Amino acid sequence: MDRTIYCGEVRSSHCDQKIILTGWVDRRRDHGGVIFLDLRDREGIVQVVFDSDAGTFFDTADRVRSEFVLKVTGVVRPRTADTVNTSMDTGEIEVYGTELEILNNAQTPPFQMDEFVTVGEDVRLKYRYMDLRRKDMQSALRFRSAVTSSIRNFLVDDGYLDIETPIMTRATPEGARDYLIPSRTHPGEFFAMPQSPQLFKQMLMVAGFDRYYQIAKCFRDEDLRADRQPEFTQIDIEASFVSEDDIMSTTERMITSVFSEHLNVEFSKFPQMTYKDAMHRYGSDKPDLRIPLELVEIKDLLKDIEFKVFSGPANDPLSRVTALKVPGGGDLSRKQIDDYTKFVGIYGAKGLAWIKVNSLEDGIEGLQSPIIKFLGDDVTLSVMERVSAQNGDIVFFGADIASVVSEALGALRCKVGEDLDLYTCDWAPLWVVDFPMFEMTDSGALTPLHHPFTAPSCSARELENDPANALSRAYDMVLNGVELGGGSIRIHDQEMQAVVFEVLGINDQEQREKFGFLLDALKFGAPPHGGVAFGLDRLIMLMVGAESIRDVIAFPKTQSAACLLTDAPSKVDRAQLRELNIRLKNKDD
Ligand code: AMO
Ligand code: AMP
Repeated sequence: MDRTIYCGEVRSSHCDQKIILTGWVDRRRDHGGVIFLDLRDREGIVQVVFDSDAGTFFDTADRVRSEFVLKVTGVVRPRTADTVNTSMDTGEIEVYGTELEILNNAQTPPFQMDEFVTVGEDVRLKYRYMDLRRKDMQSALRFRSAVTSSIRNFLVDDGYLDIETPIMTRATPEGARDYLIPSRTHPGEFFAMPQSPQLFKQMLMVAGFDRYYQIAKCFRDEDLRADRQPEFTQIDIEASFVSEDDIMSTTERMITSVFSEHLNVEFSKFPQMTYKDAMHRYGSDKPDLRIPLELVEIKDLLKDIEFKVFSGPANDPLSRVTALKVPGGGDLSRKQIDDYTKFVGIYGAKGLAWIKVNSLEDGIEGLQSPIIKFLGDDVTLSVMERVSAQNGDIVFFGADIASVVSEALGALRCKVGEDLDLYTCDWAPLWVVDFPMFEMTDSGALTPLHHPFTAPSCSARELENDPANALSRAYDMVLNGVELGGGSIRIHDQEMQAVVFEVLGINDQEQREKFGFLLDALKFGAPPHGGVAFGLDRLIMLMVGAESIRDVIAFPKTQSAACLLTDAPSKVDRAQLRELNIRLKNKDD
């Protein structure tokens, strides 16, 4: 097309030069006899001016509309002092147009580029190619591209090999539902799309590649949230002959260097916190450490009171009774407290007791709360002492089974932190370590907290004897309350792997059926190995300050896992189904 320069790159240094631009009409303004076209391409916007000296090209300029695609020839000239636009990179100059070719027309756009906020995400996703023309989306995806290449460079420099693993495969147990692909050549059988490359990267270690990485697509059919997509990207890493410290320090350096290079943010060494500590102090295994609030256990103080709401859980080993002190929260209105009570209700909390600290000097009289009468003066004052209450604070309480209190008050801690802007820093990375091997499902069965290939910190015998209390060699990287990545040292010994399957209630036959290939591989000289995977979408979301990972993915799915642009998933014709040996159940069945 003979373009000589991108629109967004024209500067004063190009003055008097003849240039050729291509791009889209961002805006057209007619000032009677002079037409201004803001021409946009991926590098930015430049102002082009046509006047009647341009002859027929002036008439062409008159015809163009928003989002027409143009080729413009012109001469760069300085703007007059009063028309310089300091908010534009190209604001010191303009292009005096001498020729104009319309390369393509455009219908009236479904929304103006500057109106996107009001149009609703469904319209943006339907016309995603228009939405992606917006500056925010352009810069988010360019940022993503730059970060991805830094990560590749970092890992390649560290000796990691980029190896692709299959998308059509068997189910990999990462805890979500699988997306299935029916096989035509094997009637009645299905491939599964990988929830992660977990098993393949372990095989690559058995194969001796020593260090592997992949920017890998993963597929999980799970309930979607702002930081979850059914199809997402991992920075997937595995290495042999390594310990937890090796994987953690390499990837900590990787994340640190990416933040330094792309955001000029310098991290010091990440703190490490045990899972137990994180749950205890923050009610979460991904604590947001920007918020200085902590949960304080008060179970021991409430065992003997009459008030069953508190004394019940206080005497139950599976329950927690916890206080959350919020400095400055004494100003919260009744309505705000009611809203927080509703909020914790989402997590199953049956109420949200509170005490406001008006004036400590006045003892019990200086406190305000509907529950003091239930607690009694002495207990109330001991609780205030335990949480080091100060005037102006509010103290919230949660009493219930441990998981409800942790989730409810953990979430409340983050919500109040955000609402009252209690953040003490912009970035708070950490590692969470010493996870339990298993967690109990509602039905009382054990499931892996990570995945069943994670090595325990104890021997096979100890694991068999007390699986519920066994710890694993897993680690999660958490940033600002978001789980950025997780990994572990793996089991490389087939006997240990069999014990884990046994604890999980997977019998011999099922073990062979589902994971026979892994158990076999472990018999043929599997090296000790371990790895980690980071959510690339989440990393970029945090780095650009987006609200949702959809804003850093070119073609994301909706909350209901649909693609509005292509209208997928969609019906297929009967012939295709027949070929796949699939018959649909009648909807009314
Ligand atoms: P895990 O399941 O913890 O571990 O996933 C690793 C990271 O991937 C990101 N992630 C997601 N991002 C967007 N949408 C989703 N639905 C989604 N699910 C997960 C998170 C998470 O921390 N095979 C193991 C890794 C290993 O052990 O090496 C695995 O997949 O940021
Ligand atoms: P009630 O006697 O049920 O009206 O509760 C008295 C106070 O305790 C109210 O402020 C409730 O919100 C609160 N409350 C009730 N159940 C719980 C609970 N499980 N945890 C914390 N506070 C609660």
